[in-house]
Amino acid sequence: MSILDEISQLKKERNAVILAHYYVNDEVQAIADYVGDSFYLSKIATTVEAETIIFCGVSFMGESAKILNPKKKVVMPDMTADCPMAHMADIEKIRQVRKEYQDVAVVCYINSTAKLKTYSDVCVTSSNALKIVKSLPNQHIFFIPDEHLGRYVAAKAPEKHFIFNDGFCHVHKSITPESVAKTKEAHPGAEILVHPECTGEVAAMADYVGSTSGIIEYAGKSSAEEFIVCTELGVLYELKSNNPNKKFYSAGDSQCCPDMKLITLEKVKDALEKMTNTIEMEEDMRIRANKPLERMLELG
Ligand code: 13P
Ligand code: SF4
Repeated sequence: MSILDEISQLKKERNAVILAHYYVNDEVQAIADYVGDSFYLSKIATTVEAETIIFCGVSFMGESAKILNPKKKVVMPDMTADCPMAHMADIEKIRQVRKEYQDVAVVCYINSTAKLKTYSDVCVTSSNALKIVKSLPNQHIFFIPDEHLGRYVAAKAPEKHFIFNDGFCHVHKSITPESVAKTKEAHPGAEILVHPECTGEVAAMADYVGSTSGIIEYAGKSSAEEFIVCTELGVLYELKSNNPNKKFYSAGDSQCCPDMKLITLEKVKDALEKMTNTIEMEEDMRIRANKPLERMLELG
């Protein structure tokens, strides 16, 4: 039996559904039941009927699925796949900011640990951050952990006062304005598509800034035939299969998230077979982390 047949048989036996982020390896995206950006995946996790979710992504994604769906088994193909940025905020700093600004809303990017979420008022993803921030009654916004997404949203919500945190995604930060300019020189007709985790200098060069789903949607609708992609290159799988006649270029050679790439077909099969890599969480922590996530689903 091929590994694909084994996965499909195990999926039936375990009553499991496979969710995958656009940044995982192509062959894993190909076997997933649902592929999407962080917001889509967190919404889908609340509607699937299967008893088990195999989450092909990094730990904050599996954690969020578990927080929102405590009765489901959430299984990770690789428990070590973790987003470094998810840890880049400090509880003490949150306490300080809350003391300083009585009216502050702690807005937490979903790329964060469950513990950080418990100290936050609302979660956001890159596709709904602006909408949610604008809808909050609070004047002061402490945006954690990603500084770049925070600054991108702040520029579009000048009516709010932002306090920033110094977290970052090393993959998006590694995309430099110089490498984007060089790629544009080689392909002058290409449109530049940028994820808001990139630096402000790179975002300023963009024809479009948005989440992975936003980038995919934009490229599909645009009349341009060539694009420079400034995000993790896993998105090329969907971009190329949706647009076989369009051309996509990377802005450099560092756009690869090593944690997302830990997920392989072999590990998906093992996860289904053994069912041991489950996300577990204290109920008290889950309830507290659930509040900002539920608020995101309501507002987003
Ligand atoms: P989106 O899925 O919101 O585009 O975020 C990208 C990301 O970095 C996920 O790790
Ligand atoms: Fe984290 Fe960046 Fe990897 Fe996304 S691409 S999981 S933000 S390190």
